[in-house]
Amino acid sequence: MGRLEITVNGIVRDATGTPPQTNLLTWLRSIGLTAAKEGCAEGECGACAVLIVRPDGARSRLDSVNSCLVTLGSLHGAEVVTVEGLGTPDRLHPTQAVLAAAGGSQCGYCTPGFVSSLAGEYYRADRTPGQHGCGNGVHLEALAGNLCRCTGYRPIKDAALAIESPPADDPWVERLAQPSSWPSPVSVSDAAGAVVRPASLAEAFDALDADGAAPLAGGTDLNVERNILGRTKATLVAVEALPELRCLEFTDDHIEIGAGLTLSEIERRLAGRVPLLDALWPQFASPLIRNAATLGGNLGTASPIGDSPPTLLALEASVVLIGRRGEREVPLADYFTGYRQTLREPGELIKSVRVPLPLAPLTAFHKIAKRRMDDISSVAVGYAVELSDGVVSRVRIGLGGVAATPIRALATEDALLGCAWTPETAAAAASVMKTEGTPISDARASAAYRSAMLEQSLLKFFASTREEVAR
Ligand SMILES: Cc1cc2nc3c(=O)[nH]c(=O)nc-3n(C[C@H](O)[C@H](O)[C@H](O)COP(=O)(O)OP(=O)(O)OC[C@H]3O[C@@H](n4cnc5c(N)ncnc54)[C@H](O)[C@@H]3O)c2cc1C
Ligand code: FES
Ligand code: FES
Repeated sequence: MGRLEITVNGIVRDATGTPPQTNLLTWLRSIGLTAAKEGCAEGECGACAVLIVRPDGARSRLDSVNSCLVTLGSLHGAEVVTVEGLGTPDRLHPTQAVLAAAGGSQCGYCTPGFVSSLAGEYYRADRTPGQHGCGNGVHLEALAGNLCRCTGYRPIKDAALAIESPPADDPWVERLAQPSSWPSPVSVSDAAGAVVRPASLAEAFDALDADGAAPLAGGTDLNVERNILGRTKATLVAVEALPELRCLEFTDDHIEIGAGLTLSEIERRLAGRVPLLDALWPQFASPLIRNAATLGGNLGTASPIGDSPPTLLALEASVVLIGRRGEREVPLADYFTGYRQTLREPGELIKSVRVPLPLAPLTAFHKIAKRRMDDISSVAVGYAVELSDGVVSRVRIGLGGVAATPIRALATEDALLGCAWTPETAAAAASVMKTEGTPISDARASAAYRSAMLEQSLLKFFASTREEVAR
């Protein structure tokens, strides 16, 4: 069994011997770092949030993540920062000091998690005054994955709005000016299961050949299954740091997005160039989840209520699969073959997603869920429409939550193509849209509600485009 070493708050810790598939939170608490708490063990509360130091070009950045969903064995060589590493009771970190001054902590259970997320913002290199409508440039959404049961959010918001810029001699500013690396290759195991981080694609394919082996990326699905349902894999093969899965490039005719990039990273690096994806990100979980979750994981899970497929179907994306025999590109519309089943063969990895260019100009993503934010879709719809002289010349609509797989709304697309973009066309197409798919009734929504939402969604999309069309 290999060695497992993780730097925590600047000190290299030996985690060898700890079950490698356990989560980071459990291990941190076992070594006495008990500030991070377990609230839900499924990524919903943020009480367990800690910071991970990650490469950011020639510099480093601090990403706040839910430590309950991070697989310990995948962290060999990684650098983790907990609240204990930021400040002490005698010398509070500025983020702790503002929370205390604003009365932003009562029972304190949630506070380390808030401090972690706020510290990520405090040190965000591109935070500039006025950004996100805040004088100090704080993106309040950074706290969206942290729940507080007793203080109330106003004082916490006041605290966030009070953080200043870190001084140049702050030790973390100095650390983040230096480069860092992705976790190192490792192979660790115990009786409960193994974690392998391969050094190359070839090593990944070898590791995936083992019985019961599965790819691991951000772990935001796999660790919920482990923590809540007790489902483990014999071997987890950590693939998200493989260079082949980390591309993001624009060519003349497509954008290629690596399956191993976190959703936050994709958002940052696309920098608004795909408006439909920009509509998706704020509605996908929370920043704590998006700092870990990947597109490869979302398509690997192949849930009929995953949120990226409706947008990617609308964007006419394809999935690039890679295996020992090479690469193959599969249209996303053909990729899903049944409930949580796909064309991906055992041993193959999702390498990237390709989005053809040019993009259609009229786009939207509608997510209908029980809660406005941080919830699972009942129905999700992605739209991409192009008009030529007021007539629909190109249309793709992706649907989630209305069939065993994500699907295209083919009948609705037919009803729209070649028609003038008018209220009458939209109304006629909306009545087709409500017949799309084979929705079922479950805990989230009835079949009738799902169909009704499809109809309303198209009417809403039409209404939302009128201003843009008039321009
Ligand atoms: C609190 C919470 C909120 C969430 N909210 C949303 C939401 O709003 N919308 C939504 O769609 N999802 C949501 N999810 C689900 C989850 O975050 C996403 O599905 C995410 O994209 C999974 O990515 P990951 O990298 O964490 O996957 P992992 O958990 O690492 O893996 C998921 C699956 O994909 C496979 N896999 C991973 N990478 C690859 C690859 N490169 N090739 C082949 N297979 C691969 C794994 O073997 C596994 O089967 C939420 C989850 C939580 C815990
Ligand atoms: S314990 Fe709730 S998000 Fe981790
Ligand atoms: S201070 Fe008690 S849960 Fe937030």
